[in-house]
Amino acid sequence: MSYLLPTYANFPLTIVRGEGARLWDNTGKSYLDFCAGIATCSIGHCHPRLTEAISTQASTLMHCSNLYITEQQQELARTLVEDFAGTRGKVFFANSGAEANDGMIKAARRFGHTRPNKNGDARHEIITFNNSFHGRTLGSMAATAQKKIHEGFTPLLPGFHYVPFNDLDALNAAINENTVGIMLEPIQGEGGVNVASPDFLKGIDTLCKQHDLLLMLDEIQCGLGRTGTHNGWQSIYPELQPDTISWAKGLGGGFPVASFYLSDRAIDDAGTELSSIMSAGTHGSTYGGNPLACAAALAVLIEIKTSDLCTNVIAREQQIRSEVKSWASTVITQIKGKGLLLGFTVNADELNLTEGALPAPYLCKALMANGLLTVPAGTETLRWLPPLNVTEAEVAEALEILKTTLDSLKNH
Ligand SMILES: Cc1ncc(COP(=O)(O)O)c(C=O)c1O
Repeated sequence: MSYLLPTYANFPLTIVRGEGARLWDNTGKSYLDFCAGIATCSIGHCHPRLTEAISTQASTLMHCSNLYITEQQQELARTLVEDFAGTRGKVFFANSGAEANDGMIKAARRFGHTRPNKNGDARHEIITFNNSFHGRTLGSMAATAQKKIHEGFTPLLPGFHYVPFNDLDALNAAINENTVGIMLEPIQGEGGVNVASPDFLKGIDTLCKQHDLLLMLDEIQCGLGRTGTHNGWQSIYPELQPDTISWAKGLGGGFPVASFYLSDRAIDDAGTELSSIMSAGTHGSTYGGNPLACAAALAVLIEIKTSDLCTNVIAREQQIRSEVKSWASTVITQIKGKGLLLGFTVNADELNLTEGALPAPYLCKALMANGLLTVPAGTETLRWLPPLNVTEAEVAEALEILKTTLDSLKNH
């Protein structure tokens, strides 16, 4: 009997311990963790730099309130802006991805009030894309263009328009006088590991400039080194300069912390900075950016930078792609994604599935039984999101488990 609300259809697996890219269950069995908290445990489980930062900060100052300044928050903001966003701006700290996206959506609303349409009405509509995932709060859920996420929760927060991903014509046609922003994951994670094309990102950039729209990037799953660059968009179209960015997941390496960024670019002839629109009193969070969370996130970002984890990410991606290609598998028909946000398209016809089973979840369960934790992205895509510091030997071990499992499930 569990007293938890049954919101998660979780696997019957009780995890008790983690180290690096490995987890242990309550029977002592170990697993290679290529789920990593769904792209969250970016530097592996219980990394000494992270546990040391958390324990030192916990015994110094855990929380005080955003009524006061803390050095940890200032330093994390500086690192995020200077080293990761790459363009001058300011950040706000929240506790989860959905919350960071809500903040980003509020900033867009505020921008629409600051820069109304030609009738003087505040612009408030945001365009998002089919199969996107932005979170489960009322704002981020409305931004999410997936019917199954909305079911039973209507009426949704108004002001979102959904258009097909990678379709510039449809996007162009959806823009109207009330549009204030375009919001997207450069690589859709939950929606099936779908990568925006360089032309699509370039086209969005042009449309945003033409129509005075905010370019809003959700980097929650694909950001902070996951794709082998500091942000997902940089592995596709590095010239892009987003107006606003949300980060979460990998930021804390498992500690709850999130952020959204607003650029300092001028939004009018007087030189008003975009970041200035979120003035004192416009937004807040009791826990957001407390010293403990900021010390944890700072340790993660320093580890990503100083250990050059982006280089490892790219090497491990190449290792995975070339090994899977050498199998000439009829079950894995395609590898989508960038870096260590990879989606294997599973051909259900080639698998000996039990009646009614969905291919990706079915394969995940089989891999789990063989000691490899992975996660589906939709019904047809198996997703790998190992820690960014996963070793060559660990990747080789995971590939071996994948190959053996596929062979055992294949139709003969
Ligand atoms: C791209 C993206 N945005 C937002 C979220 C929501 O983040 P959180 O679960 O921390 O609220 C997720 C979570 O999977 C995500 O992948």
